[in-house]
Amino acid sequence: MNWKDVYQEKLTTADEAVKRIKSGDRVVMGIGAGVSATLNEALINNHAAYQNVEIVNILPIIKTDYLKHELASHFHTNSLFVHNPSRKLVNEGIGDYTPCFLYQTPELWTGELPVDVAFIQISKPDKHGYCSYGIGVDYTKSAADQAKLVIAHVNDQMPRTHGDSFIHVSELDVIVEHSEPLLAPPTQPIGELETAIGKHCASLIQDGDCLQLGYGKIPDAVLSFLTDRKDLGIHTEMFSDGVVDLVNAGVINNSKKNFNPGKIISAFLLGTQKLYDFVDDNPSVLMYPVTYTNDPYIAGQNDNLVSINGCIQVDLLGQVASDTMGMQQFSGVGGQVDFVRAAAISKGGRSILAMPATAKGDTISRIVPFLDHGAAVTTSRQDVHYIVTEFGVANLKHKTLKERARALINIAHPKFHDELKAAFEQRFNVAF
Ligand code: COA
Repeated sequence: MNWKDVYQEKLTTADEAVKRIKSGDRVVMGIGAGVSATLNEALINNHAAYQNVEIVNILPIIKTDYLKHELASHFHTNSLFVHNPSRKLVNEGIGDYTPCFLYQTPELWTGELPVDVAFIQISKPDKHGYCSYGIGVDYTKSAADQAKLVIAHVNDQMPRTHGDSFIHVSELDVIVEHSEPLLAPPTQPIGELETAIGKHCASLIQDGDCLQLGYGKIPDAVLSFLTDRKDLGIHTEMFSDGVVDLVNAGVINNSKKNFNPGKIISAFLLGTQKLYDFVDDNPSVLMYPVTYTNDPYIAGQNDNLVSINGCIQVDLLGQVASDTMGMQQFSGVGGQVDFVRAAAISKGGRSILAMPATAKGDTISRIVPFLDHGAAVTTSRQDVHYIVTEFGVANLKHKTLKERARALINIAHPKFHDELKAAFEQRFNVAF
């Protein structure tokens, strides 16, 4: 049968599509704006038909009514990256968080978390019947490859991206057509603090470097300090609008990349329509699964790879907590360790973990003698390289215990210097 006939045969409404989901099924959705708002809404509206449908996703910017207490018997959240709406449920013990390196998430689909249903949001088909995963190839493509049922939202506003980004109409089980703009996350104004941190991070970036940047105010601030650099490249898990500005300014051209020269490599995208227009049918941007973008041994083939990510707390040994605040699961490991390790493998590579020196209106130091009770180490002291705060840069790589503690205290807020120095002297039995 012609693929166009196959397509027509599979077409239905969102309300009908979600009736195929059964109680106890696991539904895997994508990341961020890649999650289909249309399918999600139909799922929530149909809640009365389900008991214990498990929802797995990362940072969805959709209606999160499935997290409401009153729907707890209908839906169970198993987050791979806890965020504001799911944080409460996970820390109450109702929802779950599964720690996993981002590059290994597809292993979940063939291991602990088999996929019953994959919700995917894709572009309209090309003349050969191939739809593009657009802004979200990440783990979504592998989830669809493994799923018993693939429910596809075909959105003509989803850009068509290049790379390993396609699925054929014949591989879809159910198709829902709905045109809607991709969601954009709320914009975060960059303040003086992020500017100061961004400036220190940027001081570690040289012409010709290949960058991985996480999402948020600090990465955006870093990019704003790179306008005078030349020949930067991108190999990352995600990027946002700031990268588009630097491409347009001629700063990012990927010309010095030894691995995938001339190409930006990413797994998902999170930004505004400007970003989504930039990647549409743009052969200089290749979208790949996280098994490619984030595998340290693949990403580490880029020379001079510089990774920049955020963290929550660092102890005097250089152990970094990035996804817990004491007992509280605050976010997720995401791709942080993937890229810290990739940068360590990369010839000339550097990893940067950045954070404000304090929290709660300067009443708490984030550089501490001991991680808060119950905190999990995200990046180990063997893996850590640069820690950056608004007070400067600490290079911890291959440093002794005392050297790293001194370097960290020097970038702590001055009001905590005395107590940190006292903790240093108590720990090491020598004067600071
Ligand atoms: N004690 C108490 N409160 C703390 C704290 C601490 N030790 N550390 C941070 N906080 C507070 C902050 O003051 C802030 O409060 P506010 O919202 O009232 O201002 C809040 O917690 C969030 O901290 P902030 O540093 O602003 O977080 P962020 O939004 O910049 O995110 C991470 C930082 C570390 C949570 C985030 O980068 C992350 O999850 N990283 C791990 C995953 C990763 O790096 N993945 C790779 C890229 S996806």
